[in-house]
Amino acid sequence: MSHLIAPSILSADFANLQRDLEMINKSEADWVHVDIMDGMFVPNISFGFPVVHAANKHSTKPLDVHLMIVDPDRYLKAFKDAGAANITVHIEACTHLHRTIQTIRDLGCSAGVALNPHTPVAALEDIIADIDLVALMSVNPGFGGQKFIHNTYKKIKELKKLAEYNNPGLFIEIDGGVDITNAAKLVDAGANVLVAGNSVFSSPNQLSAVAGLKHAHLM
Ligand code: DX5
Ligand code: ZN
Repeated sequence: MSHLIAPSILSADFANLQRDLEMINKSEADWVHVDIMDGMFVPNISFGFPVVHAANKHSTKPLDVHLMIVDPDRYLKAFKDAGAANITVHIEACTHLHRTIQTIRDLGCSAGVALNPHTPVAALEDIIADIDLVALMSVNPGFGGQKFIHNTYKKIKELKKLAEYNNPGLFIEIDGGVDITNAAKLVDAGANVLVAGNSVFSSPNQLSAVAGLKHAHLM
C-alpha cells in the first residue's frame, strides 16, 4: 500500500475553510489532519469542537484529530461526536495512557499516540500492540511552518523495528516540516502517513503539492 497524505488544516484559511476542504476533497489526500491546541500543553491555541464539526460536514475524508492538550480524557467523546475518525493523544499528556487508548477504541475511533521530538520510541514498548498509529513529531508541537528535525529518521527506523512483530499494520505518521524535499526519504525510512500543513497551503498549486507528496518515492 502506498503511503497516506494528511494535509493539516492548521495552515488553511479559516475564513475559507469550506473552500480549502473542497480542495482536499478533490486532491489525492487520504485524511484531513486536525490540530487541537489548548494553550497549556503547547504555547498556542488553535480551535475547538464547532470548527471540527464544521470541517467534518464539508470533508469527504476521515478526520485525523491530533490532540495537543493536557488531560485529553476529558474531551475524547466530544471529539468523536464532532466527527473524529482517528484520535491521537500525546504520551507526555497521559498519566494512564492504556486507559485513554481503551476509551478511544471503545468510542469506535482509531487510537494514536504522539511523541514529542525528545521522547524516545522505547517509551512505546508496552503500548505498541494496542494502538493503530504513532505520530512522530518532527517539530516541537504548537505551530505550523517550522523546520523539520533530522533526528526523526532515526526514530522512524526504531519504531519500524519495535512494531515489526507486535503491530506490523501500524500507521507511522510524521508530523511537522514535511515537504517535497524530505517526503521520499521519510517513506523510504518507513513512514506511511505524511502530515503537511505549510508545504501544501503555501503552495501556489495546492492540488499538485498534495500529488507531489503522494507520489514521492526515492529513485
Ligand atoms: C504542529 C502540528 C502539525 C502542523 C504541521 O504542532 O501538530 O500538524 O500543522 O504543519 P507543517 O507541515 O506546516 O509543519
Ligand atoms: Zn499535528
